[in-house]
Amino acid sequence: MAKRGNIDLGPNARKRLLIVDFGSQLTQLIARRLREVGVYCEIHPYQNVTPSFLTEKFKPDAVILSGGPASVCDPGRPEVSRAVYKLGIPVLGICYGQQLMAAQLGGTVERGSRREFGRSALARKEISRSASIFSDLFQSEAETVWMSHGDNVAEAPPGFRVIAATENAPMAAVADFDRDFYGVQFHPEAHHTINGTVFLKNFAAIAGFEGDWTMSSYKDEAIESIRRKVGKGRVICAVSGGVDSTVAAALVQSAIADQVACVFVDNGLLRKGEAESIVALFREHFDAPLVFVDASARFLHRLKGVSDPERKRRIIGATFIDEFMRAAHELDMPEFLVQGTLYPDVIESVSPAGGPSATIKTHHNVGGLPDDLEFKLVEPLRALFKDEVRALGRELGVPEDFLARHPFPGPGLAVRCLGTITKRKLEILRKADEILLEQIKRHGLYNDIWQAFAVLLPVRTVGVMGDGRTYDNVCVLRAVTSVDGMTADYYRFGHEFLAETSNKIVNEVKGINRVTYDITSKPPGTIEWE
Ligand code: XMP
Repeated sequence: MAKRGNIDLGPNARKRLLIVDFGSQLTQLIARRLREVGVYCEIHPYQNVTPSFLTEKFKPDAVILSGGPASVCDPGRPEVSRAVYKLGIPVLGICYGQQLMAAQLGGTVERGSRREFGRSALARKEISRSASIFSDLFQSEAETVWMSHGDNVAEAPPGFRVIAATENAPMAAVADFDRDFYGVQFHPEAHHTINGTVFLKNFAAIAGFEGDWTMSSYKDEAIESIRRKVGKGRVICAVSGGVDSTVAAALVQSAIADQVACVFVDNGLLRKGEAESIVALFREHFDAPLVFVDASARFLHRLKGVSDPERKRRIIGATFIDEFMRAAHELDMPEFLVQGTLYPDVIESVSPAGGPSATIKTHHNVGGLPDDLEFKLVEPLRALFKDEVRALGRELGVPEDFLARHPFPGPGLAVRCLGTITKRKLEILRKADEILLEQIKRHGLYNDIWQAFAVLLPVRTVGVMGDGRTYDNVCVLRAVTSVDGMTADYYRFGHEFLAETSNKIVNEVKGINRVTYDITSKPPGTIEWE
């Protein structure tokens, strides 16, 4: 069994802020905001935050208690160990976190008769001692903040004073300046709290954070950590051309160049020019040895006659593992495997019911490698969000056009060539897809779109070209906007763009005589057609 490899930054490598998660939808945003201002933080579910976790394992320099869906007034409410208040470090409670802190420290919380939800104007109450926490804030009379709560702190605990209030929340912000404990009813992490990041930065500054967690420092620490972990061992990397695997490979390459082999499996289901551009990136740009496995014939052979999408996925997944393992054996089985696991896949989330629950994976990872192969894992991106991976890639000199790439599914064109797959159909699809992408780039739309591609339908329709009739396939164009691939909307191309692209495809791609544009959002549709 593979051992999960933590990216161990060393317990005292730098100051670390602990975010205790009580299940708010916004918890990840707290981490993102803090990291934007150079504060290293990690999210851990409240159940895991035991006294020994605090004093021996994580050793935080500050703690933030997140919001959450529970009520402090309920018996069996989720609680954090009271040990957090005895560490002598600053603590900030947000929404549920504020109410819990109030209740645990001797204040009272009352059940709200109605929920307050939306923007509110926050006015400052206590001026002199709140200079640090409100530094650079209240340039105008009030700050716009985002509220989303039912309960309220009725009585602040001993030692606390009200430092700001809104019309409906007289205890919108409270503070115990002697202990540097702060509680806010609003959500500083929400986008609608206009200066929320400044507030979080101020809190971190009170705890002595200097905002020095940069990608350049992360890179150096990660390189150190990879060297420590791998020692003189050999490492294998599967590269797909996607952002994560490229950046992970580039990082490991800069840490232990002589011990790494990168393997690229061409499954014959890639876009036009894709395999060549990946080979060029690794050979020319990183000077890294790349084992190129042309397995396209074997993939296509196993997919022959298969039209069921899930069977296609299973076959592609299994064939990829076979091919990769064959390459690994030819390389004398390196001990370590690099995986491009990201932080959102690692965070254990807290379910709304309060119990721990596994994170729901953002999407099906078909076409990747499972965790249970015979390798120890090196996961150098485990601490990073997607946009941080891009920043790290920039730091490592990965070209910008690689970092800005649209996601591409592991099963590739197989799930865009509907019905059975043949070499000829793939060729037709590749040409149409290439024209669509060229058009998008030429019109400067690439970065506005999450994903764009052509789909070849196993449907033939009648057309006229010149003097003759044609009986050819239908091509669907798909382009969507999205933030995370979980929901999506179709991209509003102009009619001119669509007309020009359709003409180009019908005129230049033999085998397609009709082009349609998919205007379905997700939900109810999905991004891919299979
Ligand atoms: P759907 O079609 O489910 O796609 O709306 C959401 C995102 O996931 C990608 N996708 C896949 N990625 N293996 C992958 O690695 C797959 O089997 C797969 N199916 C869909 C899709 O391209 C989109 O970005």
